[in-house]
Amino acid sequence: MGTMTIDGRKVEFTDEKNILTVIRNAGINIPTLCYHSEISTFGACRLCTVEDDRGKTFASCSEQPRDGMVIYTNTGRLRNYRKLIVELLLAAHCRDCTTCIKSGECVLQELAHRLGVRNIRFENTREQHELDFSSPSIVRDPNKCILCGNCVRACEEIQGIGALGFAFRGTEAMVMPAFNKKIAETQCVNCGQCRVFCPTGAISIHTNSDKVWKALADPEIRVVAQIAPAVRVA
Ligand code: FES
Repeated sequence: MGTMTIDGRKVEFTDEKNILTVIRNAGINIPTLCYHSEISTFGACRLCTVEDDRGKTFASCSEQPRDGMVIYTNTGRLRNYRKLIVELLLAAHCRDCTTCIKSGECVLQELAHRLGVRNIRFENTREQHELDFSSPSIVRDPNKCILCGNCVRACEEIQGIGALGFAFRGTEAMVMPAFNKKIAETQCVNCGQCRVFCPTGAISIHTNSDKVWKALADPEIRVVAQIAPAVRVA
């Protein structure tokens, strides 16, 4: 419990688990890609970075609020950082936005627009990977993955399944089922939570397959499909 100063305004907090929540409770819209209140904090995207009164920057999702803190959420430096992060993510991202099934609801697309990213100065050196259509419920497109890990944590922490995980390192890092199996070869239960938490088109609903209609006829899947949208509270 305490008071902090955010963008020159005194804001009280009680038991919020991180500074990001205090900022959002104060009505300030701060961008995030890897934070969801229902799953553990990962601190990967750094879009939620804020600056304190000594000029130190840190991810607000990964720091607890402390009494007397003074932070800024929208300085020129932070805006430049955020724009650069989105530009770098887009550089390693498939660019078929106009035909992507997530177009219009893609968080990365929305952020690029909001932050004024109008061109990409960096070359895409990422290897292209095949799409995985093996599941009756979802399609996995590794070329649109931004490595936020939301799908990995949702599958593990909400469903207790763990069908997805991280593999490799550095520029080769990927999210995939263990041993690069197809989704259909894993213990995936077709709940769709990974799709709900994915901010891009890396995981989308499988709309072009007869299998999907068979899956939707399964009463268990219908129940999960009703639950899934309600879970999406960032
Ligand atoms: Fe804080 Fe991604 S939201 S690092």
